[in-house]
Amino acid sequence: ELPGTIYEAIGGQTKIEELVTAFYNRVAVHPELIPIFPNDLTETARKQTQFLTQFFGGPPLYMEEHGHPMLRKRHFDFPITPTRKNAWLECMDKALEEVGIKEPYRTVIFERLTITAQHMMNTPDEQK
Ligand code: HEM
Repeated sequence: ELPGTIYEAIGGQTKIEELVTAFYNRVAVHPELIPIFPNDLTETARKQTQFLTQFFGGPPLYMEEHGHPMLRKRHFDFPITPTRKNAWLECMDKALEEVGIKEPYRTVIFERLTITAQHMMNTPDEQK
């Protein structure tokens, strides 16, 4: 384990906000993802910033406003296929690069998000 939190090491709130912006700019133009996201991603991005802040060891902003994340349950309304899981991770991989998150953090972050994304799948590809 590295000392401190991932949150602090990558640059705290400012860097999380940059990452979330870079991520949703890609989601907004991704043909696989557009159909299941709202047109206005402002509120989605705000919640994701809160979530990733606590996920990477910062203050528990998401919990304070929304309670326990129950992320898999909160995604039940949206058909998340393997294809969409891969698309989400592809957007995140490019966003991590775009905002200049360096190793070893980039790999650690991507691995944790990959595990979480795998848990969100709830629909086979043929049923999308
Ligand atoms: C919300 C899609 C993975 C965290 C949402 C929403 C969609 C979505 C459509 C609702 C947006 C809205 O109504 O505002 C997906 C897809 C994923 C995925 C396709 C692919 C696997 C993840 C992962 C995380 C995550 C890996 C966390 C690391 C969140 C959070 C919210 C959210 C925090 C807001 C929940 C709330 O309403 O409080 N996601 N998601 N998602 N997603 Fe995901």
